[in-house]
Amino acid sequence: MSDYLWFEGIPFPNLQYEKERLEEIRDKFVIRDEDTIILTYPKSGTNWLTEIVCLIQTKGDPNWIQSVPIWDRVPSIETQKGYPLLINKEGPRLISSHLPFHLFPNSFFSSKAKVIYVIRNPRDVLVSGYFFLSKTKYVKYPESLTTYFEWFLKGNVVYGSWFEHTCAWISMRERDNFLILSYEDIKKDTKSTIKKICDFLGKKLEPDELDMILKYSSFKAMKENKMSNFSLIKEYIAPNGLVLLRKGMTGDWKNHFTVAQAEAFDKVFQEKMAGFPPGLFPWE
Ligand code: A3P
Repeated sequence: MSDYLWFEGIPFPNLQYEKERLEEIRDKFVIRDEDTIILTYPKSGTNWLTEIVCLIQTKGDPNWIQSVPIWDRVPSIETQKGYPLLINKEGPRLISSHLPFHLFPNSFFSSKAKVIYVIRNPRDVLVSGYFFLSKTKYVKYPESLTTYFEWFLKGNVVYGSWFEHTCAWISMRERDNFLILSYEDIKKDTKSTIKKICDFLGKKLEPDELDMILKYSSFKAMKENKMSNFSLIKEYIAPNGLVLLRKGMTGDWKNHFTVAQAEAFDKVFQEKMAGFPPGLFPWE
């Protein structure tokens, strides 16, 4: 069990992350106009969207997603493995990141690069994160959901406060190169969401290509795809194996929160997210 690496008020995992690189990413990494960035707070559906975007790229052909690990297809800018892949790649890049607004490459804010930001009910994010962490040696592990619940509300979890991450990023929502999606909407109507992503990225798909994307990005297909289900994650991070595709449902928090926890969460949500238009958060 390792403790966090703290940088600019944000706790990061100790493995795969370095302060110097985080600083370099913010100050020197050049985002190109032709880049596409998948941006999320962890456990919001990052890998689901990644699989969909990869399949849009190949027009539904599953060869790429079935032969290359997901973290090599769409490298994470802030990890030891992803960073060199990205700086050495020529042409348009698919980039993934969980970075909070204030640590994201400064160059993005004057670029035309496209960002897709996925939000998810933070209660489900909390539950998903708790069960995911229980399998890793990545960061300090809470002995109970009650403990993790407290850490989460305080922002004392990897990548910091969900509330701060979300408030800062959704303030970009009026920009043409910024698309907000929710896990809940992707789940409710995956087909329409894929069309929306295609419109945003300027891609056109035939109906049969769309059907292939739906098929290969389904929960079942991703769970079986060893290039996407995290079964290839190295032993030192998760000796007992990692389960990325746990339940894949909305509202699982209701199976885990006590009434008191649900009320406490509501109160914090109302306080911290006040001022955003109704309808922005489809789960509320
Ligand atoms: P649960 O733990 O609630 O099941 P991330 O990729 O950001 O780490 O998010 C992981 C969450 O997304 C997990 O949630 C996982 O099951 C869910 N997920 C991943 N692929 C999915 C898919 N194809 N359909 C539905 N949910 C998916």
